[in-house]
Amino acid sequence: MPVTVSGPGRLRGEIIAPGDKSVSHRAAMFNAIANGSATVQNFSPGADCASTIEILRSMGVEIDREPGPDGYGDTVHISGMGMHGLEEPGGILDAGNSGTTTRLMSGILAGRDIFAVLTGDPSIRSRPMGRVVSPLREMGAEIFGRKGNTLAPLAFAGGNLKGTRYELPVASAQLKSSLILAGLRADGETVLEQPALSRDHTERMLNAMGASVTASDLTITVSPSDLDAVDVYVPGDISSAAFWMVAGITHPDAEIMIRGVGINPTRAGVIDALKLMNADIALENEREVAGEPVADIIARTSDLKGAVISGDIVPLLIDEVPILAVAAAMAEGETRFEDVEELRVKETDRIAASVDWMTAAGVTVESTADSMTVHGSGKIGGGTFNGHHDHRIAMSEGIAGLISASPVTIDGAEIASISYPEFWSEISKLGGTVE
Ligand code: S3P
Repeated sequence: MPVTVSGPGRLRGEIIAPGDKSVSHRAAMFNAIANGSATVQNFSPGADCASTIEILRSMGVEIDREPGPDGYGDTVHISGMGMHGLEEPGGILDAGNSGTTTRLMSGILAGRDIFAVLTGDPSIRSRPMGRVVSPLREMGAEIFGRKGNTLAPLAFAGGNLKGTRYELPVASAQLKSSLILAGLRADGETVLEQPALSRDHTERMLNAMGASVTASDLTITVSPSDLDAVDVYVPGDISSAAFWMVAGITHPDAEIMIRGVGINPTRAGVIDALKLMNADIALENEREVAGEPVADIIARTSDLKGAVISGDIVPLLIDEVPILAVAAAMAEGETRFEDVEELRVKETDRIAASVDWMTAAGVTVESTADSMTVHGSGKIGGGTFNGHHDHRIAMSEGIAGLISASPVTIDGAEIASISYPEFWSEISKLGGTVE
């Protein structure tokens, strides 16, 4: 479905950020293997989290989903089956486009006394799964996959898990979470060494559920634990809010308020990066909601400057690089994204996809295996751009339409529904034209 976006002369409005995708996946999965039942409010409206729910249901988990209050996400009730209660699925488990579903479910399925096959769409079937399969096999799980156990479909066929000491080769929250989940059911302690911090929603939520998961600097120690179901109010997704932040700071006459955004420090690197670029971003009404820090964010027209974004901040803004690249195009001077090789193995190769569409939009962008440099000129052109079957690429192109002097047509715009089905109608609410 192609969508054409043009921007208004004056961009004003208020958005309620949709429920966080990472927290929603975890709230559903962890409560499914907990004792007791739980209610999750403001659940992510995206297709990715729906894939997680369907997978859990096909293993016997009772999950009811109903609309939440106006403007907020659905309310989901989950009846936990306990740590060992999941039933053998009758069919193949389909993670759709969701890497979080695939990798976290791998940790949940590993070493269980059931047979299960887990797969997803063509993107999922091309993404690296050896990073989870190999340490889970070392822990004793019987897991098989294509290309020497590195690609989905993955088959899980039992095994006896034992604790391990493992140095993560990448700062990946999906990998870390997968191994923590296996560690909860392993014999003995599991100790994980991270190369850098990544989002810590798993550690926070499992602690709230009574698990023995302790983090000290970059080391995480997990002991076998049962979980108690816990109600979760999901904060707004900062990765979705980032699109409106960038719209607000790059449009020549803008002020956008984004309400209820989760600002967990392991997720909020985008705010630091934008401030480094001289963005006028203000946080208001900072509060704590169900163990996660939340704020309202105001983004106003800014005089942006180029910056270097590299090193330990990268995992804290990894999903925001495509939209930060749009901010970089609208800045004065060069912005260098370094140490971003993980972008090559996301829903699509996000370095190649960004270089492709931004070049077509008249922006000078260069890349190497692990970096991307955007030469900011203060403008971004219109045209027809391929959404690359990647929600964050398609939405970045949508924001380009909102701030460009010429219309932008996004081919395959429907992919936004992976994380943000309301994205295109929110653009209209802000005064943009969407046809
Ligand atoms: C996620 C972790 C990140 C991120 C993804 C969601 C999570 O992936 O890109 O969108 O919920 O744990 P990696 O952990 O592989 O970097």
